[in-house]
Amino acid sequence: MRIDIITCLPKLLDSFFNQSILKRAQEKNLAQIIVHDLRDYTTYKHKQIDDYAFGGGAGMVLMIEPIDNCISHLRAQRQYDEVIYMTPDGENFSQPLANQFSMFANIIILCGHYKGVDERVREQFITREISIGDYVLSGGELPAAVVSDALIRLIPGVLSDETSALTDSFQDNLLAPPVYSRPADYKGWVVPDVLLSGHEAKINQWRVDQATERTKVRRPNMLE
Ligand code: ADE
Repeated sequence: MRIDIITCLPKLLDSFFNQSILKRAQEKNLAQIIVHDLRDYTTYKHKQIDDYAFGGGAGMVLMIEPIDNCISHLRAQRQYDEVIYMTPDGENFSQPLANQFSMFANIIILCGHYKGVDERVREQFITREISIGDYVLSGGELPAAVVSDALIRLIPGVLSDETSALTDSFQDNLLAPPVYSRPADYKGWVVPDVLLSGHEAKINQWRVDQATERTKVRRPNMLE
């Protein structure tokens, strides 16, 4: 999977994609993440990429020209499954959407900033608008990182234990059950006996029961 991210703050994303699982996914050629600096695509003086909103009002708007130049440049090289705009008024991101998007070969993610992008960008270039929750962040960079992380960890071969993405919270409409590690007794706080029993069927049943109970208490809507 190839993800092209268009942003005016590329440095914000560099370190995120160069750590841990996402770094290894790229080293194994399972994912390619290319961050594009919007300022490299403007023809305005002083690398300008934003301007005042017509009609007045506070806040700058990302201009259409550099975004058009960048998206058109990318589209001339390959076909994209979606051109996604990160925005708080988009469709709410969720595990089912992550599963669906993880099948794509190529996507573009455009990060908004300031007051957002010229509306014509949304009309002409964007095929999907995604929000990561009902709160407003300063820009689309963290949301783009969130979405990319959720997709890349689902690509087969990215996680060392192939089953581990399948047992995540939300994958089976249940939250994940609790997990424990050594020591079995820490200051008298002990691990449930069943997990030390070696009895696989009982352990699996315990995990399902715990996941169901946790979901009932914390997210009853998921069981409806
Ligand atoms: N940009 C600013 N806030 C956002 C949010 N909640 N989701 C996606 N993009 C955003």
